[in-house]
Amino acid sequence: MKTILEQITAAMEEAFEACGYESRFAKVSLSNRPDLCEYQCNGALAAAKTYHKAPIQIASDVAEKLQNHPMFLDAAAAAPGFLNLKLSGNYLAGYLNRMMQEERLGCEPIGADKSVIIDYGGPNVAKPLHVGHLRAAIIGESLKRIYRYNGYQVIGDVHLGDWGLQMGLIIEETRSRHPELPYFDEAFTGDYPSDPPFTISDLEEIYPTASAKAKQDETFAKAAHDATVKLQKGNPGYQAIFRHILAVSIADLKKNYARLKVDFDIWKGESDAQPYIPDMIEKMKQDGLLYESQGALVVDVKEDTDTKEIPPCIVQKSDGASLYATTDLATLVEREKLYHPDEVLYVVDKRQDMHFTQVFRTARKASIIRPETKLTFLGFGTMNGKDGKPFKTREGGVMRLEHLIRDINEAVYARIMENREISEEDAHEISQIIGLAALKYGDLSNQATKDYVFDVDRFTSFEGNTGPYILYTMVRIKSILGKYRAASGNAELPKALSDAKSSSEKELQLLLSRANDVIAAACAEIAPHRLCQYIYEVSNAFNKFYHETKILGEEDGEKQKGWIALLSASLTVLADCIDLLGFEAPEKM
Ligand code: ARG
Repeated sequence: MKTILEQITAAMEEAFEACGYESRFAKVSLSNRPDLCEYQCNGALAAAKTYHKAPIQIASDVAEKLQNHPMFLDAAAAAPGFLNLKLSGNYLAGYLNRMMQEERLGCEPIGADKSVIIDYGGPNVAKPLHVGHLRAAIIGESLKRIYRYNGYQVIGDVHLGDWGLQMGLIIEETRSRHPELPYFDEAFTGDYPSDPPFTISDLEEIYPTASAKAKQDETFAKAAHDATVKLQKGNPGYQAIFRHILAVSIADLKKNYARLKVDFDIWKGESDAQPYIPDMIEKMKQDGLLYESQGALVVDVKEDTDTKEIPPCIVQKSDGASLYATTDLATLVEREKLYHPDEVLYVVDKRQDMHFTQVFRTARKASIIRPETKLTFLGFGTMNGKDGKPFKTREGGVMRLEHLIRDINEAVYARIMENREISEEDAHEISQIIGLAALKYGDLSNQATKDYVFDVDRFTSFEGNTGPYILYTMVRIKSILGKYRAASGNAELPKALSDAKSSSEKELQLLLSRANDVIAAACAEIAPHRLCQYIYEVSNAFNKFYHETKILGEEDGEKQKGWIALLSASLTVLADCIDLLGFEAPEKM
């Protein structure tokens, strides 16, 4: 369905035309003077030149036309030529009632027949997830849901970091500990064991140990390098270990992502792209894109309009090895071949900006993607500690994701237990739900590109612009609806909203009527923070209405029904939005 803004604009266009003015002047926006009006149109100011008339004259003509219009309670011309609009209660309630009947709050499926791959994982196999991967997961998961809501066909790809020296390090370290294993016996011809020779905790210890060892021990470093090359050339024993590393790591990653309510449609990795590299490079050579620079093969990607230096994209090192950029290019070859996406969206640390500029330009020059395929890089900022530096543990190390989640849940648990009568078991369960909301909202409420300060106390507060505050509002609504249901013998809840009776009720209705517009904007602007901003406003408006209105005590049954419908609508809007942000509300808190 049309957004409310589109509907108002259409009515305004009609009025402009009826007065003999072009409809292009009838642009309507949200009021920036809420004390005076709800929507406004400044078109008369722009039209004045064209028609050689005073703006106020034009505005008055249009206002005149809008008298008794069913959409407006008030349409007034104001000096020097504004049109101040207030919606009629009947029209507004009618819009909301239709919106509630529509699927997805009447959000137009603008993305129908378009497909998007979102690359938002990037965890490195055999290394634990850390906070660096947290933002990618939180933002990417939300975008995946927002795109889907807007009709797009979305594939979320974890894009594992499963290629490179870390594999050789693990293989070499495993060999030094268990040289007797068949993987290292070149003459072995049987089936390799199906059980892995290590657990995830082993891997988490093996990798750092091997990595440290390689820094001190040149022979070991060389052996690890050779093992990497051997693996990449297809050595069967090493391939078998590699599959074990992948299986063990992926099982653990899935568990951790599930805790974050993050999931991926495909579990591909850098290693899957490797088979595409030789042909890709060959074609680039034939197209004359590659040239040699200090032994390496590079593609020039600078453009005349660049304001800073964009160095050539290195596609092959002098020793013939491929690099991060090579893998990302080959991944695009694979994605184009298998999925033919209309857009590929990367949600990665903004410090990788240059890398993606080089990769995107090379992909276009080499026609790896179709000219109309959109490549988007959403570079997110850093999560900092209170000291303004990248977030660390108290000991100064890299914070593991599961520890971070544990800390948040404990903080929420303490808050719940402070002053509530609730069983410990319930409190534990609920604090996980609220903890996730605190974490995700704390992240998503900031513009993704900006750095932000991770502050457990603030994020877990039940007041202010926080996840728990939003949940608290929703639980409050649920509780009123529950009481109403019980009192009315569990009949179905009334659905029809009625004309707003107070300014706080109208304010809430006005906000709710914008839900589909805001969700579409969050998608178009790749901006989940727009949703946070919006549900914070909705929650504030709801709480104001709630404090001013005796809902359950109301004796006029019709009045009460309208309010109950308004509460349901508020809950629906909030529930849809938090689902798009990737968290949910408990039944009580
Ligand atoms: N594994 C990389 C890292 O940890 C992130 C990968 C991001 N995605 C991509 N297609 N390059 O930094």
